[in-house]
Amino acid sequence: MANELIFATNNLHKLAEIQHIIGDSFNLKSLGQIGCFDDIPETAPSLEGNALLKAQYVFDRFGKNCFADDTGLEVEALDGRPGVFSARYASDGHDFEANIDKILNELLGVENRAARFRTVIALILNNDIHYFEGIVNGEIITERKGVKGFGYDPVFRPLGHELTFAEMPLSEKNKISHRALAVNKLVDFLNSAK
Ligand code: IMP
Repeated sequence: MANELIFATNNLHKLAEIQHIIGDSFNLKSLGQIGCFDDIPETAPSLEGNALLKAQYVFDRFGKNCFADDTGLEVEALDGRPGVFSARYASDGHDFEANIDKILNELLGVENRAARFRTVIALILNNDIHYFEGIVNGEIITERKGVKGFGYDPVFRPLGHELTFAEMPLSEKNKISHRALAVNKLVDFLNSAK
């Protein structure tokens, strides 16, 4: 029988995507599916810390194996900001457009546009903690291009590509993205652990 594994998210689209990659050896469940409707605090100062906070919350209260992810955009010329504050960079409102405007303003006239997306997954499996990281390097262009994707996609162009994440078909982005890289590492680990 498949092992139950909780993904500390309510994003069923993300869950289905990862379930598809993992196959049928683990049966993924969302927070809602285990009756967890709490607003889990994400108050740590790092992506690793926030991912672990979420996974630990579920493990402690529900006693179930669990993983959680956290992602940030890290801009070199801004000393790694917005990083862990990527979702609420311009305001608490999680406003993608305002967040992009803020980055573009801060980088006005700045030559070094290097940036990366970094995803961290924290997994708690039978009391042991494991981390998986995915990084995609690229640059912040000077104006928005493309309408696909979400978040900072219109201004992020991955290294070695002509298109921004928002101009690429989703299937293309999903092959090279920070999240895909981290998830692939998680899946390899789970498949070797089963
Ligand atoms: P989360 O940890 O996946 O919720 O991501 C936190 C924030 O990082 C999001 O609200 C977005 O602003 C940004 N972000 C994460 N992944 C991406 C991506 O693939 N493209 C653009 N922005 C992203």
